[in-house]
Amino acid sequence: MNVGLTTAILPANEAAVADAARSLRDGGLVAFPTETVYGLGADAGNAAAIARLYEAKGRPAFNPLIAHVGGLAAAQRIAHFDAQAVLLAQAFWPGPLTLVLAKAPGCAVADLATAGLDTIAVRVPAHRIARAILRAFGGPVVAPSANLSGHVSPTTAAHVSSDLAGRIDLIIDGGAVEVGVESTIVGCFDAPTLLRPGGVPRAEIERVLGRTLLQPPDDADSDSGQPLAPGMLASHYAPRTKVRLNADRIEAGEALLAFGPHAISGVEAASIVMNLSARGDLNEAAANLFSYLRALDTKGVRAIAVMPVPHHGLGEAINDRLRRAAVGRE
Ligand code: TXA
Ligand code: MG
Repeated sequence: MNVGLTTAILPANEAAVADAARSLRDGGLVAFPTETVYGLGADAGNAAAIARLYEAKGRPAFNPLIAHVGGLAAAQRIAHFDAQAVLLAQAFWPGPLTLVLAKAPGCAVADLATAGLDTIAVRVPAHRIARAILRAFGGPVVAPSANLSGHVSPTTAAHVSSDLAGRIDLIIDGGAVEVGVESTIVGCFDAPTLLRPGGVPRAEIERVLGRTLLQPPDDADSDSGQPLAPGMLASHYAPRTKVRLNADRIEAGEALLAFGPHAISGVEAASIVMNLSARGDLNEAAANLFSYLRALDTKGVRAIAVMPVPHHGLGEAINDRLRRAAVGRE
């Protein structure tokens, strides 16, 4: 059991990056900032470290991990890139896009990390500290979001610590992240498929590919019965408090998660109001989403009522996460 570890928290600087790389080499679990959310890193080639990682998160081992690398050349050592995948990598890396590709022959990532699939999820993060750690470590690092499985993803080091202190070795504190929702995941199959909306808007990917992204058939691959993005279970990203979507009025005792400049009916009855973006900016709303959900979840309110959020740009990812937060609680 990992519980009972002393978890060091270090401000992000050169010495901390060196400590992070050393810890990863020793099979340690290191949380670090990426531009999307904080990740919990382990050496992608070390099955024992990956087993500890699943245990620390309470994550089922059938849910595979994203391998993070420094660039396209490193990605091509672990995954097979067709022409479309190269196009996407060149357009969006480093950045908040994950590609699901066929594993390359001799791929050095442990089978445990890919849950026995013959595909692998790969991403080149843009965050300065994530990149420095990858460079110092010198190999692929698997990193799920650094939260307890099923909980809201962390956008600050304090979120990581509140979920995982005592269960992991090190947290590198690089301040609040920029994007705030996880990477967009595209399956580079014969027809490229949007497996998870995220930090790169669908429309930008479709513009680069010159075609529409398919939707996965209801979370399940019809041939194998394997979920296409196994982590995309309906209830995920979940606060403990009930979440009520598309609210057009407030019931007494509810918290309001607002969006945009307009007030809604009954707002004076709300026990607390947080606005994702008073000026109606979807990028700002994405950056605030998880920390506001976490904050409202500690207030002991009856429910969190959420105003409608438009669907374009990062709105698709925001609405996806809100829907999952509300499942079973509406
Ligand atoms: O922004 C992000 O992507 C963050 C940062 C830390 O990079 N990471 C992240 O990882 O969100 P995680 O583990 O929380 O979500 C990864 C998702 C899961 O839903 C998992 O099922 C899916 O990627 N996934 C991983 N490998 C896959 C594969 N071979 N095929 C389909 N889905 C895969
Ligand atoms: Mg996650």
